[in-house]
Amino acid sequence: MTRLLHVVGARPNFMKVAPMLRAPAPAPVTHVLVHTGQHYDVSMSDAFFRDLALPAPDAHLGVGSGSHATQTGRIMMALEPVLDAHAPDWVVVYGDVNSTLAAALVAQKRGTRVAHVEAGVRSFDRTMPEETNRVLTDQLADLCLTPGPLADANLRREGIPDERIRAVGNVMVDTLLALRSRATALDAPARLGLSDTPYVIATFHRAGNVDDAATLCEIVAALARLATSMPVLLLLHPRTRARLTSFGLLGALGDVRLMEPVGYLETVGLVERARLVLTDSGGLQVETCVLGVPCLTVRSTTEWTETLAAGTNRLVAPNASAILAGVAAIGTAGVPPSRPPLWDGHAAQRAVAALLGVSSTR
Ligand code: UD1
Repeated sequence: MTRLLHVVGARPNFMKVAPMLRAPAPAPVTHVLVHTGQHYDVSMSDAFFRDLALPAPDAHLGVGSGSHATQTGRIMMALEPVLDAHAPDWVVVYGDVNSTLAAALVAQKRGTRVAHVEAGVRSFDRTMPEETNRVLTDQLADLCLTPGPLADANLRREGIPDERIRAVGNVMVDTLLALRSRATALDAPARLGLSDTPYVIATFHRAGNVDDAATLCEIVAALARLATSMPVLLLLHPRTRARLTSFGLLGALGDVRLMEPVGYLETVGLVERARLVLTDSGGLQVETCVLGVPCLTVRSTTEWTETLAAGTNRLVAPNASAILAGVAAIGTAGVPPSRPPLWDGHAAQRAVAALLGVSSTR
């Protein structure tokens, strides 16, 4: 029996672990789920556990918020005894959040094999904390489970040998394809009175965009302007709400409709019918690509270059005129959905097979 201990902690981890826990396994496997508590609001964590039908975690570290050093250190200290108690064969970590790097460090130093799901993804922007987390986690990982060939090439350039790299596909897409019909059935736009109206979904939470008052002011100006012609729904991450409040920018949002962060199904239900998504999220770049919804990513780089090649996503600088020009360039034309190689709904099955040392039949 192989024991896999999965460590998750922040919102974007939850839709990545869900298909791993459910994937058909070619050999006996036990799953242990650990939640670091990096995200703890109901809307950032419990709502996702509910929508994704995730089991209650076997251990909850309750670390909460803090500086990068505080959060990373707390996770490391709290996780070590959990690894001692469960003695897993593999620690499986996801994506690029602080919980990911912290768990990989503890496991590797303890001599437990580490697998990184979503390995090799790079923005090449070393000012982003997520990029540091990705690069270091991949160096620590015994097995880099990548979303596809671009990520494989990134890892090889960083000196990671082929035997540590396995292209399995994009686990986020597994979840999206599995739950899309349930998301559609919720009819989230109708419940917001948006059945027959084109609307924009906006989400911003990156430190580079929201922690700087001048940059956030530019984004707010663009959203307020856009909201004069079409409903704009801004799904507010707690970090963004806090910054809008402390910078005194809430009033400048004009007709923009402010919403609390919504669960996974409601997000997909709103995004799939949107005219346009304006975001700095990584996950939404992937989801809009597969759903065929135009996405404008308000950043100078992206770790999901597949979505640029697919033509569903464009990068725009975080200033009001660039954002509005980007929106105008998209116009009313839609974009066809696109699925890069291995974004086929079976990534988790291939990942679990790789962890069990069996080649997948998929
Ligand atoms: C983290 C990830 C980021 C990911 C994002 C998704 C890192 C370095 N960043 O950023 O890659 O895209 O999650 O949401 O790991 N807060 C709450 N309630 C919560 C969680 C956070 O109020 O449940 C507030 C706190 O004030 C906290 C702030 O949000 O200080 C930032 O939270 P944190 O987990 O440090 O980073 P995120 O910005 O969420």
